[in-house]
Formats: sequence, C-alpha cells, structure tokens
Amino acid sequence: MSTANQPVQGMSDIAAPEVRLWQRLEQLARETLELYGFEELRTPVVEFEAVFTRSLGETTDVVQKEMYVFEKGGRRLCLRPEGTAGVMRHAAGLGAQETDGARWYYVGPMFRSERPQAGRRRQFHQCGVECLEPPSPRVDAEILALQVDLLRAWGLGDCEVRLNTRGESGGQAAVAAGLRAALAAREAELCDDCRRRIAENVLRVLDCKNAGCQAIVATLPPPTDFMSAASREYLAQTAAHLDALGVKARIDPLLVRGLDYYEHTVWEIASSALGAQNAVAGGGRYRMQIGGRELVGVGFAVGLERVVGVLQALGRDRDLIAPPPPLVWLVGLGDAALDGNLALMQRLRAAKIACRMATGGSMKSQMRAANKSGAAFAVIRGDDELAQGVAALKDMATGEQVTLPLDRLAPELAARTGAGR
Ligand code: HAM
Repeated sequence: MSTANQPVQGMSDIAAPEVRLWQRLEQLARETLELYGFEELRTPVVEFEAVFTRSLGETTDVVQKEMYVFEKGGRRLCLRPEGTAGVMRHAAGLGAQETDGARWYYVGPMFRSERPQAGRRRQFHQCGVECLEPPSPRVDAEILALQVDLLRAWGLGDCEVRLNTRGESGGQAAVAAGLRAALAAREAELCDDCRRRIAENVLRVLDCKNAGCQAIVATLPPPTDFMSAASREYLAQTAAHLDALGVKARIDPLLVRGLDYYEHTVWEIASSALGAQNAVAGGGRYRMQIGGRELVGVGFAVGLERVVGVLQALGRDRDLIAPPPPLVWLVGLGDAALDGNLALMQRLRAAKIACRMATGGSMKSQMRAANKSGAAFAVIRGDDELAQGVAALKDMATGEQVTLPLDRLAPELAARTGAGR
C-alpha cells in the first residue's frame, strides 16, 4: 500500500460537495449555540498527556488503548481524544471570576486509535459544549434540551435519548462496593476483561458487550440502589424538567458512559438510521481536579461523522448542501484580452460575482474549461471587443449571447446571478 497518496487508516479527507454539508452543519450549530449564550473556545489539538489520563480515568478504554501519545522535548504529549479535558485545562488557568458560569463550545478534530469501521474513525470531529455551572437539575435539563435542539436544527429526525445518573461523586465508592458485592458470587462466569474490571473499575462491567456478561448484568440491582436519596432525587427532577420542556428521554439504569469524570446526570443519544456505531452524541455532568482546581460543569459532544451518516441514510444531506455561487468564466483571445480579463475579474469580484479565467489557449479550449467548471456564464473578449470597450456575455445553459458595454457587465451579471443579495 502506498503511503504517498492516501491518508492514514481511519482518517479521511473531506472534499466538495460533502465539505459544504460540514460547513452548513457548523453554521447551524453556531447559530443554535449562540441562542443559549455559548462562546466558541479553540484549544490546541496537541496537549500534555496528563491532561487526559487523570480526568478521563486511568482504566478507561480511551486512556488505556486509544490515545495517540508521543514524546517531544522530554514531555509526554498527545493528540486530544476528546474536548472536555482541554476546555477544563483552559479554565484551570483562569480566575474563578472568568470560569464560574462560563459557557464554551468547540468544533474540531479528535483522535482515538480505535479499530476503524463504519462510523468509527481514528480522526473524527466533535461539536461539543461545556457549561461551568454548579450542579442543578435545571441546568442539566437545559443543556440536554440544547443537545436535542441542535440535532433538530440539523434535521436529524427522531433520535433516542437515554438518561441516567452516576450519582454524586462522594457516593461513587459506595456504588462500586455495592456492585462488587452483587457480582462476587458470579465472578467466575464473567469474561476475562470483566474479572479484571471488578477490581479496577466495576462500572465498566455494565457496558461489556459479551453476551454472557450482559445476562449477568441484567440480574444485578441497578446502581441507583446504592446511591443516596439526594442523587436519585436529582435524576427525578432532571427528568421532570425535561418532560416539561417536551424532551423525550428514557431512563436507562445501566447507562454508565465510557469516561470516569461524570457525576449525576449522564445521557447518550442514538439514531436507528445508523448501524452498530449508532451513538450520535453523549454527555453529562462532571467534576474534575485539574491544575490544582476542582471544576464542575455539564456538557456534551456530538460526533459529526455520525451526524453526516444519519443525514445520508435519511437522504437529507442534499437539502442542507447550498450550491456554490454561480461562476462566471472569462474567455480572452490574445494576450491583451487575457491581461484585461485579469483586471476585469477583480472588478467583478468587488461586485461579489464569483469568476475565474483560463490563462491562455484557443477559444475552444477555454470554452471547454468553462463547461468543465460548471460556469453559469462566459464573458468573451478578443481584440475587437477590447477596442470597442464591450464584452460578449454567454448564458452557458441556454447558449444565448448578448454584447454589452463593459461598464454594464457587472450590474447585468449581478442581476442574473443574484450576487450580493
Ligand atoms: P464520547 O461519548 O466519548 O463523549 O464521544 C461523543 C461522541 O463522539 C460519540 O457519541 C460519537 O458520536 C463520537 N465519537 C466518539 N468516538 C468516535 C470515533 N472513533 N469515530 C467517530 N465518532 C466518534 C465525549 O467525548 C465527551 N467529551 C462528551 C462530553 C462533553 N461530556 C461532557 N462534556
């Protein structure tokens, strides 16, 4: 396999026309997120490895198996596998005044060295938000409602929202102990990974894909049984607020999410239009120790490749792709006309008319180039037109051609292409 003409496995180029869909999704996201008071935050793609290892959890798949880590100048660096920890690293460097209640969003590439398959990439893109407001079922419901609003703005149609709680962070050890005790009698029946997980991070047993483990998990008491009444009440209130907002969410007592920084509310959103990798988005409330500070917030991230996949499966991608502005192709016969066209293009662009030209060649080859580019109009000039201060304007679809004085050209093209409107 040649490495000179293809991207790294699991990473893709995004070219036209699909890139126009991406641009539109990003534009719709910015519009929606601003309605909720979010500002964009752009953090680096490369971070210190430690930013993620502690906050995501040493025993998570992302940290144990999927990080792209490298050493440079004696420091352990990595490509960010997700957005939350980098945003919190940014917040940890600010004063409480600037971080309390901050609402940030991000759109960009993330990197996880997973086995590539449909919907699972090694470089993928997330659109995410982080809202640094203290625990409150009202805020959590608002952010989940924003998530649903965003998916609706993109035209995603019906998605299933699963909701659960990880309980308050102070009570998570009790939940783990309760689950360990409940699993003790069945330990020998679990897969090798899960036997290890019991000691390392027992919650991970709950989302094991092994059928035997799933059957055992189905018999366990739900983790909420080991939580405080306050934690259960927090979930009930969040669910009630969502109900009042008209957001349909199903409580799934086994939903734990794959990252360790969560407390209280967690959720995942899936689309039946996707295959095995059907999670479109995930989020929740979290608590993180970073840079000597403890930060709390609630947020989510949507996988943009998955959103594109759903839109394609539903046949809705084309509705969102705006065509490029109509192109005008300038044809020049002879050096004087070509030189003149170079200057004319700048005048047309000043009038917001998109245009291009060939740098030479016969009339036939220049018209062929115009056709190939999909130009809507051709403007043709030779020595005669140059001498008379006129240009021939040809409609490429109808073949109709008119001759116009040069100073009429920009207003005529603006009227015909709708430029500047
Ligand atoms: P996550 O569930 O790991 O959460 O990722 C969020 C979304 O990113 C997934 O639902 C999926 O759509 C997409 N995604 C993840 N991995 C891949 C992949 N290999 N290929 C394609 N898409 C993928 C987080 O990352 C948390 N930071 C979300 C969050 C923000 N929680 C609170 N704030």
